[in-house]
Parts: sequence; C-alpha cells; structure tokens
Amino acid sequence: MTRSKVDLLFHSAAQLVTCASGGRPKRGDSMRDVGIIEDGAVAVADGKIVEVGSSVELSAKYTPKMMIDASGKVICPGFVDPHTHVVYAGNRINEFELRIKGASYMDIMAAGGGIVSTMEATRAASVDELVADTRPRLDAMLRLGTTTLEIKSGYGLDVDSELRMLEAVALLDSSHPCDLIPTFMGAHAVPPEYKNRSFEYVEVVIREMIPRAAAWYRHSHFYDQNTPFFIDVFCEQNAFNVEESRRILEAGRAHGMNLKAHVDEFTNLGGVKMALELGAVSVDHLDVTGAEEIYLLAESGTTAVVIPAVNFNLGSTHFADARAMIDAGVALALTTDMNPGSAPCPSMPFVMALACRYQKLLPSETLNACTINAACAIGMEKQVGSLESGKQADMLLLNVPDYRYLAYQFGDNLVEQVIKRGKIL
Ligand code: NIG
Ligand code: FE
Repeated sequence: MTRSKVDLLFHSAAQLVTCASGGRPKRGDSMRDVGIIEDGAVAVADGKIVEVGSSVELSAKYTPKMMIDASGKVICPGFVDPHTHVVYAGNRINEFELRIKGASYMDIMAAGGGIVSTMEATRAASVDELVADTRPRLDAMLRLGTTTLEIKSGYGLDVDSELRMLEAVALLDSSHPCDLIPTFMGAHAVPPEYKNRSFEYVEVVIREMIPRAAAWYRHSHFYDQNTPFFIDVFCEQNAFNVEESRRILEAGRAHGMNLKAHVDEFTNLGGVKMALELGAVSVDHLDVTGAEEIYLLAESGTTAVVIPAVNFNLGSTHFADARAMIDAGVALALTTDMNPGSAPCPSMPFVMALACRYQKLLPSETLNACTINAACAIGMEKQVGSLESGKQADMLLLNVPDYRYLAYQFGDNLVEQVIKRGKIL
C-alpha cells in the first residue's frame, strides 16, 4: 500500500479528544461523550484535518513532512468563544472597586457608568488604537487555547463609532491567527444623548445603523470568505424591551444578518420566546430563565450560551441553570463574554472550572460546550469546534494526560502548543 503524503502527523497522544458530532450540536447524554481515542493520532494537510484515528493505523497510512510525538499529552479542538466584547478602549477598574464596596452592576449602569463609560473611551479611539488595544487580549486568549471567537460592536453607539469597531474586528481578523466572527450590536445600550428618548435611538439603529452595518459587511473580506455576520441586542431593563428588541432583530434579519440576543441576564422580560420566534442562532446569559422557557429552548434549534464568568465577576452566587438545560436537551454552549465590565476574562478553561463547580456540569459537558456547541452558537460548526476530517486543523496540545485537568486544575494554563489551520504557533 502506498502511503499518502501529509504535512503533519501528531501521534501517540494519551487522549485524542475529538468532540465529534457530525456537524450538529450535542444534547443530553451525548454532552458527556467527548470522543476519546487513546494512543490517538491526527493527520493534517493544507491546514485541514485529513484523518483522526489510532497511532498504529495512521502511521501506516501517511508519510508526514513532520511528526509530532504527543506521548503523555492530550490533543483537543481549539476552543471557540462564541460571545465577546473584546474590542474596546479603556478599562473599568474603578467600577470593579465600586462593586467591591457594595454597588451593583445595574446601579452603576443606571448612574451612567458601565457600558456607557466604555462607550466614551471607545468613541475617542481611532480604529488603529482599537486594534492596538485589542491585539494583546487576543494574544492572551490564543495562548489560553481560543482559536475562534465572536466579537461584538456596541461600545460606539453612534453610526461612525459602531462602524469603526466593526472595522477593527476586520483588521484584527486579517492580522491575527484567531478567526473572528463579527456581530453588530448597536443596541447594546441607549447612549446618553438619547437618555429618556430611547424610542428615537431604536429608530437610529433600525434606519441608519443596520443598513450601514449590512453594507459594511458586504464590502468586507468576511462576506467574500462566507463568514457569518450577526446582529445582537441587549434585551433588559434600562436597555431594550422585548418589542424594541424584536423590531431591531427583525430589521437585522431583513438585511441578511443572523440573530443573537442577550436575554434574562438580570430580568426576565420574555426575551427567550421572542428570540426563538425569530429563529435566533443563539440566546445568551439565561441567568433567570424559567422552566417553561428551558423546555422551549430544548425543542428549538437555538443554542443557549451561558456565562458563569459574569456571575462570578459580579460576586453573585446565582448561576444560569445549565444543569437543567442539558438535562432537558438544550444545546448548551459556554463563553467568557470577555469585556471590560461584567467579565474581564480571556480564559475558556477558567469558565469550564466555574461551570463544573457552580453549575454542576461534568468536565466532558464543559469541553463540548466550549468547542462544538460553541461553534454551533456562531454558525461555524462545519469549519471548527471538533477534530473531524475536512475541518480546519485548529487544535491544542495540552501538557496533561487527561482532558479533565482543563476544568479540574484551575488558574493554570495547560496549553503547551496551539495549532491554527495546521500551523504550529
Ligand atoms: O454581556 N450585558 C450586556 N453586555 C455585556 C456587558 C458589557 C459591559 O459591561 O461592558 C454582557 O455582560
Ligand atoms: Fe455580552
């Protein structure tokens, strides 16, 4: 038998963890199956996975240009972080201290701080400054194993500043190893110039921002390479009510955007039902979602994205009921929500650690939630999120023999090597 040539062959992994799902989200019992191949190997060519299997089998089949011995180590998919606000200027360390002294996130937001304070810093920044501020954060995320992430606008809150944020995402995508998925979130907060006239701001979002954002996307490289584009809205008290959120999402959909919504973070306004009716790809936060809505989510094709890093960062002991969601059959994903206010957290493994301890998920469930299900939450399940032939070779080499260390041993970085599109970084 002649052997096929490949670029890379990783072999002898203590565990090759595939998270394979056949391009669908994992639900229920399958969340506990991470697809382990012991003494595993993976063959890579042209940035893609050619085959995964046992070391014996693949060594006999392929002649690699380079062999990498993964003895005693784990190979798993690169993490997919499906909800971030990582492009911003400034920081919110002062608010962190105010919260320590007793103020709540919602108090700070009602007093004109929070998202609006980051808006002020972001409006003052040029595209180049936003790129320069964000790049080291992406570097940190990549070192911690994140190879694909979604990034929202939403700290500009006027047409030009929102477009500058989207442009920063495009420039970073073209110059950083991470793959970035853009989301327009002009409806993240009502900017101060529209205080008490939020209905007017909603009109600006619908009539000016959405058409401009849609046009920006069509002229961007994201459109050329078929990267999906999303619209998101913060459906919450003091942000956008259900009817406003519905109108904004419908307008985005009419312009070809895929839908996401921040719902039930602090207040249950009924956002889950609204987002499901519109066919949202994901609904995010879900901290105060009720049992009936969990049932509706389980029946839907929408991915539920929960964010324990926000609860933790806000000093709360209340977490989204991710256990009930998985048990009901919801397609559940995890995210950092990386942002300067509610979650200055770049680490998916830290999120896994939180979800195990406070949401009673097993390490297996958290890994699927950070890989294949997270890919489903951003419409990228055909390209990334699992180690299956034909997919991008986005993989991590962990310097431990069991993937469960990712969630068990927290505060460390177990990622020894990141492989992005078949390149060892
Ligand atoms: O997902 N909830 C709204 N948006 C972000 C917070 C952004 C911020 O605080 O700057 C979130 O938690
Ligand atoms: Fe968010």
